[in-house]
Parts: sequence; structure tokens; C-alpha cells
Amino acid sequence: MDIKNAVFVVGNTDVGKCPRDGFPEYAFIGRSNVGKSSLINMLTGQKGLALTSSIPGKTQLINYFLINNEWYLVDLPGYGYAQGGKQKRRTLQRIIDNYLCQRKKELTCIFVLIDCRHNPQKNDTEFIQQLGGNGFPFVIVFTKIDKLSNKSLKENIDVYQSTLLKNWEELPSIFVTSSERKIGRDEILNYIEEINKT
Ligand code: GTP
Ligand code: MG
Repeated sequence: MDIKNAVFVVGNTDVGKCPRDGFPEYAFIGRSNVGKSSLINMLTGQKGLALTSSIPGKTQLINYFLINNEWYLVDLPGYGYAQGGKQKRRTLQRIIDNYLCQRKKELTCIFVLIDCRHNPQKNDTEFIQQLGGNGFPFVIVFTKIDKLSNKSLKENIDVYQSTLLKNWEELPSIFVTSSERKIGRDEILNYIEEINKT
């Protein structure tokens, strides 16, 4: 799919102020610093569209980007952000939880981002468990694959899949990406295009 235009529409901590036009939305969720905002920039081909930083905790709002005047990419704060302390972490977690609760109708697919370099982390697997348990449509996106050899990447994905299979009979769709090297763009955009058609 071609992205003809991508426009920032609104950024807010208040889910009540999210767009009301009913367009389908695709949300990017994961730990702070996993590469959510970078992936949105890579997909849209606009480097500075979503703000990124090497310091975790950059995105603190629910940011909506309207794509081709038809659907939204939603950039969210990360979970597990430690720098601002417990209070900050709780605030960001509440934003994510409210978002999930209140946008169920518009939420067409959640992209759960996982840094491919790490072993399964408890807060990620618990989050995935929670999504599945509550019937949210989601897929998993391994990020930053430019930082691993093919062999290590395969090993890490295998470990992840085995961990998920302890709780699930079926695995969700999995994408591998590098925003740095523009890997995984067509796969994700084609996936979204297919869902938008149905
Ligand atoms: P928060 O907004 O804090 O939750 O983080 P985020 O998940 O939006 O991460 P962000 O996109 O800001 O990226 C975090 C850091 O990882 C930045 O320094 C990016 O340049 C880097 N990064 C993101 N994606 C990639 C990638 O594919 N490869 C490499 N090597 N670095 C990446
Ligand atoms: Mg971000």
C-alpha cells in the first residue's frame, strides 16, 4: 500500500479527546524505547512525524496520525518507564489502560512491539496475556533487528514463541522490523491494507 499522506491530528492524555470520526485505528504499544515512534516514521516515510529519543519516556501522549484520510496510526507512551519514578510510570500506564478500554470499537489491530535483543520480559508477556484474554486483535512486532545477527534473531524469536505457546495454542502474527534499515515496512502496510479491505 502507498501512504499518500500522513498528518499529525491530535496528541492528548485524555482518551475522551481522541477523534470521533470512527476511522479504524492501528496502535503501537510496547516498552519505552522499544521503537514505536521510529516505526511510525519509517512506515510513513516521514522522519520527524513522531518524536523519537534515545532516552526512554519520550512519547507521553496518545498521538494520532491520519493516513490517506482513511485510517489512523496511533503512537502511545511506553510502559515500564522507570526514569520518572513510580508516579510517572503509573500515569503512563493509566493512559494506556484507558486508551485500550475506551477505543475498543475503533481499535482494529494492536501492534505489540518487542525489542528483538531481549529475552521475554514479564511485563511484555503479561501485557500480551491481558490483550488476548480481553479479546483484542493484536500482532507482535520484533524491533531493531539490525542490532542482531540472523542466527541470534532466530534464536530469540524461537524462545519468544515457546514462551507464548505455554499459554496459547495459537501464535499471533509476527513481524520483524528495523526502522534503521527500513525492514518490515511492506509487510506491515500490506497487513493493514488487507484488514482495511474487510
Ligand atoms: P518511548 O516514546 O519512550 O516509549 O519510546 P519509543 O518506543 O517511541 O522509541 P523511539 O522510537 O523513540 O526509539 C528509541 C530509540 O531507539 C531511539 O534512539 C531510536 O533511534 C532507536 N531505534 C528505534 N528503532 C530502531 C531500529 O530499528 N534500529 C536501531 N538500531 N535503533 C532504533
Ligand atoms: Mg515514542
